[in-house]
Amino acid sequence: MIVSSTTDFREAARRKLPRFLFDYIDGGAYAERTLARNVDDLADLALRQRVLKDVSRVSTTASLFGQELSMPVVLAPVGLTGMYARRGECQAARAASAKGVPLCLSTVSVCDVDEVAAASSRPLWFQLYVLRDRVFMRDLLARAAAAGATTLVFTVDMPVPGARYRDAHSGMSGPHASLRRIMQAMGRPQWAWDVGLMGRPHTLGNVAPVLKGHTGLEDFMGWLGANFDPSIQWKDLEWIRECWKGPLVIKGVLDPEDAKAAVDLGADGVVVSNHGGRQLDGVLSTARALPAIAQAVGDKLTVLADGGVRSGLDVVRMLALGAKGVMLGRAAAYALAANGQAGVSQLLDLVEKEMRVAMALTGVNAVSEIDGSILANGISAG
Ligand code: FNR
Repeated sequence: MIVSSTTDFREAARRKLPRFLFDYIDGGAYAERTLARNVDDLADLALRQRVLKDVSRVSTTASLFGQELSMPVVLAPVGLTGMYARRGECQAARAASAKGVPLCLSTVSVCDVDEVAAASSRPLWFQLYVLRDRVFMRDLLARAAAAGATTLVFTVDMPVPGARYRDAHSGMSGPHASLRRIMQAMGRPQWAWDVGLMGRPHTLGNVAPVLKGHTGLEDFMGWLGANFDPSIQWKDLEWIRECWKGPLVIKGVLDPEDAKAAVDLGADGVVVSNHGGRQLDGVLSTARALPAIAQAVGDKLTVLADGGVRSGLDVVRMLALGAKGVMLGRAAAYALAANGQAGVSQLLDLVEKEMRVAMALTGVNAVSEIDGSILANGISAG
C-alpha cells in the first residue's frame, strides 16, 4: 500500500471498515467542533523557517518516564482496536515495539493485557478507566503490573460518555444497534474475514470477568455509561497510588487548575487531552490549552498532549507548545484498519521522517531544543 499521509490511511480505513466502526473512530461529540479545532488549530500554527544552522545531526530520540524512545511518541489508548484488525492491539503493539515507542493499552481493548504484553517486546503502558466494581479494579491493576506494564495512564475525562450523534446514526449505540451493525458488517465481508469475526468471539478482554454474559460490544456506549463510575474524584488517586507503584499519568486535563491538582496529588505526568473531541464539544482545542498548562506545571511533572496530531510536523508543533511527548489516536487507528501491523509501522516511519524534516527546516538537531522559539508567534499559517 502506497501511503504519503494520514489522509491516505483514513480513506483506506473508510473503504474497509463497516460504517459503524469507521464513524466510531472518525467521529466526535455533538457538532464535532472541538474535534475539528484540534486538527485546525494545530495545523494553523506557523513555524519559523531557519537556514544555515548545520542540521546534519538531527535526532528524534527522547526519554519518557525513564524509557529511551526513538521519538517522543506514544500510541494512544484506543478502545476496541481488536475490531479494526485481527487481534489489533497485538498488531499495533508489535509495530510500536519494533519502532521503539510505547503502546498504551486501553482498558476497553479486545485483547487483554497478558496477550498484548506477550506480543510486545517493549514494556506496555496501561490506560485505566475506573468501573464501579473497585475490587475488580484492584485486580485489574495487579494483572497489568504483573504483565509488565510500566506506566499507568488514568483517563479522567470520561466520567460519563459524551453525546456522539454519529454513533447513534450509524448503529454503534442506541436501540437496534446490534442489528444495524450486523447488516453493515455483511456489506464488508473482507473486514469480517480479516478481523476473524467467524472465529474467536470478540469481547472486551480486560473486563471480561465483569461483563456477566455480555460481550460489552452489543451496545458499547450503553455499557460504558452503565459501568463507568461517575463518582470518581481527586481523592481516589490515593487508592490508585496504593495499587500502582510505577509512574502515574493523568489523561484528560485541559485546565491549569486541574493540572496543579495533579501535581499536588503526586502524579508523574498529565496528558493535555479532550479525548480527541469525543467528550465535551465546545471545550478548547488541545493546541490552545497546552501552553498555559505547560507553563503552570511543566517544571513539576511531565506534560504530554494529544488531539489532532496527524503528522510528524504536528508532533513538532505540540513539542513547541510545551509537550514533552505526544500521543497518536486516530492516526494510528486508521493505519491499523488500513493495513494492520504493517500500516502502523508505515505510519510511525512516516511520522519520524516528517519530524526529521520539520526539525531540520526549523534549525534544531535535538528534541530537547524544540520550544516556543521555533514558532512564528501570533501568526497563523492557515
Ligand atoms: C479514543 N480515546 C480513548 N482514550 C482513552 O483513554 N481510552 C480509550 O479507550 C479511548 N478510546 C478511544 C477510541 C477511539 C476510536 C478514539 C479515536 C479515541 C482517546 C484517545 O486516547 C486520544 O485521546 C485521542 O484519540 C487523541 O486525539 P486524535 O489523535 O484522535 O485526534
